[in-house]
Amino acid sequence: MSNYRLKNPLRHFLDLASLTQDEARDIIEKAKALKATATQEGNGKGFIHPDRPLADKSLAMIFEKPSTRTRVSFEMSIHQLGGTAIVLQGDDMQLGRGESLSDTAQVLSGFVDAVMLRANSHDSLLEMAAHATVPVINALTDYSHPCQVMADVLTYEEHRGPIKGKKIVWSGDGNNVAVSWIHAAVLFGCELVLACPKEFCPPTQVLEWAKNNGGKVSLTHHPLEAARDADCIITDTWVSMGDTDIEERLAILAPYQVNRKLMRESHDDSLFMHCLPAHRGEEVTDEVIDGPRSVIWDEAENRLHIQKSILMWCFGK
Ligand code: CP
Ligand code: NVA
Repeated sequence: MSNYRLKNPLRHFLDLASLTQDEARDIIEKAKALKATATQEGNGKGFIHPDRPLADKSLAMIFEKPSTRTRVSFEMSIHQLGGTAIVLQGDDMQLGRGESLSDTAQVLSGFVDAVMLRANSHDSLLEMAAHATVPVINALTDYSHPCQVMADVLTYEEHRGPIKGKKIVWSGDGNNVAVSWIHAAVLFGCELVLACPKEFCPPTQVLEWAKNNGGKVSLTHHPLEAARDADCIITDTWVSMGDTDIEERLAILAPYQVNRKLMRESHDDSLFMHCLPAHRGEEVTDEVIDGPRSVIWDEAENRLHIQKSILMWCFGK
């Protein structure tokens, strides 16, 4: 066996639930530092970190679903840290013709230093991680979206300081981003109130995990009550990639729209966040998403800065 196959233990970034609180905090703080360095150096999009900390590193990025933010932010992140990215569409690979994930994982491990996967099924991600001999990063699955929520925490703290003890409210579909927010609430010590209809609640076992790990996470079917005194209100599309029950979702989720009435229940200085892409007039009104409380553009840009920190963590840097 050649040397590149002897990298253990691997730092996969599969879910926030598998990080320690210290690791999660370190990733956020390093992202703040990396962002400061990029800003001090002029923040041009052609910025290259003066130390090129990932100069000898390469990342394969596999997409089984569309992406704008994740794709561009990861590619720019590794580039700005001195490394190289290869973008692969699942359908263009032999994966799309039936080559197994386990064989693909082993082959890619011989070519690149890390693999990022946006997968239809979370099981595919776990299979990739089980067979890769390099770190694997979750770039969204049907179950979770940890990179996104790390960027959200960074964004909250940039605007309002420590998130610990703050009341975060999720209104809408209890989807993949909501699951990562449940994990984040435990790791970062914030309160999370999820207002979701009974048809579209987050998985029970994630809520139980939060309870068993000391999280202050609750579920309600009353968005206005949930929003009371919130420090931040978050939502996401009602129809995620892969969902087919579109009409049912639009009808059932309508009362969970983030609008002026809902925002009025929250603190005067509350923030609004959305991972994007947004569907204005559905999960959020124009008035809110384009209004003064909305920090969506910072949230999107912070994908770049958090991705750098996640990559550094994966490589033990
Ligand atoms: N928020 C997010 O992950 O966006 P993309 O689907 O564009 O990557
Ligand atoms: N919940 C959405 C997030 C997109 C970034 C989806 O999975 O499509």
